[in-house]
Amino acid sequence: MDAELFRCYLVDKDPQGNVRAELTRRPLDELPGGDVLIRVDYSSLNYKDALAVRGHPGVVKRLPMVVGVDAAGTVVESGVYEFVEGDPVLVTGFDLGVTHWGGWAQYVRVPQQWVVPMPPGLTPKESMMLGTAGLTAALCVRALQEHDVKPGSGPVVVTGASGGVGSVAVALLSQLGYDVVAVTGKPAARNYLQQLGARQVVPRQAVTDTGGKPLLSRQWAGAVDTVGGDILSTLLRSTRHFGCVAACGNAADARLPITVYPFILRGITLAGVDAAMCPMPVRHELWQKLAGPWKPKHLAQIARSVQLDEVQQHAEQILAGQLRGRLVVRVAGEDQPQKGHEAG
Ligand SMILES: NC(=O)c1ccc[n+]([C@@H]2O[C@H](COP(=O)([O-])OP(=O)(O)OC[C@H]3O[C@@H](n4cnc5c(N)ncnc54)[C@H](OP(=O)(O)O)[C@@H]3O)[C@@H](O)[C@H]2O)c1
Repeated sequence: MDAELFRCYLVDKDPQGNVRAELTRRPLDELPGGDVLIRVDYSSLNYKDALAVRGHPGVVKRLPMVVGVDAAGTVVESGVYEFVEGDPVLVTGFDLGVTHWGGWAQYVRVPQQWVVPMPPGLTPKESMMLGTAGLTAALCVRALQEHDVKPGSGPVVVTGASGGVGSVAVALLSQLGYDVVAVTGKPAARNYLQQLGARQVVPRQAVTDTGGKPLLSRQWAGAVDTVGGDILSTLLRSTRHFGCVAACGNAADARLPITVYPFILRGITLAGVDAAMCPMPVRHELWQKLAGPWKPKHLAQIARSVQLDEVQQHAEQILAGQLRGRLVVRVAGEDQPQKGHEAG
């Protein structure tokens, strides 16, 4: 089997040192070591994947690299008791698509510690409609719950609301009964966000204060922030006493202009979220929820699918903040691995 070629989306440097990304075929024995070989049915497009397509050194730690932090499919070979051939599984994060060849490929081989059995209630496609973005949104919601931000506590803001993480966060929070205020830079996304359950849709300026006041009037019970910078600062300064802001992204800015006052005078919690290294027990808990009571009713509106050979054009869109919702990448149904030698 190792002589077979599999299709994958590879980023590498050309002889001139320029980063090149292309759909190609590589022998299976070039896959990195691991306990479990998975035939991938679906992957997805995340912001991080789009950076990887450009070979961004903050994401891609070594070249050549197959892009894709997410993968869902079927176990075809396993060296461990925990998984057997035929098991439906999913993998998100860890080093997938970062130091370890990723999910935009017909196969991934990964350590068993990265593999989550597909929870009953989710198809492989649905699991990738959610993907890392879904797990991230769920971690943010969990952080709010853990800090006692409840549905009756008051309005909860979601920024970057029309993006992947934002869309799932709006859907989850509203399904759980929260009063959701969606912040978007896309006026055309208003109806979409209302359909997902946002009570109010506001422009970014509504939560952007650059006046420099250490505290602002108290408005929000909590927030899920995917953008960072002045907006995250504004949210922290305008959250009510003992509220919580879950921060997971930097789509606008990696900096955080802030003083300590929201923390020491209002008891605000800034809860950091890192889905990639989410511990396995929490992953299991959240994937079970996402497959059950938290499964977004509007998943079909949030996500649409593209083929592996179409995904690069959308990578530029996501970096420009223009993509709405999620893109699931269909890998199965592409032509199957072939016997033969490496192709360019
Ligand atoms: N920490 C983690 O574990 C984790 C996991 C997944 C993603 N992330 C991060 O979370 C962020 C969102 O990821 P994603 O996959 O949801 O990306 P995405 O689909 O591109 O969503 C990002 C959204 O942010 C908004 N936005 C873009 N540029 C902006 C700007 N300059 N100012 C304000 N808002 C802006 C846009 O929404 P509107 O047009 O609706 O405003 C955009 O759709 C990224 O920074 C990503 O790296 C982190």
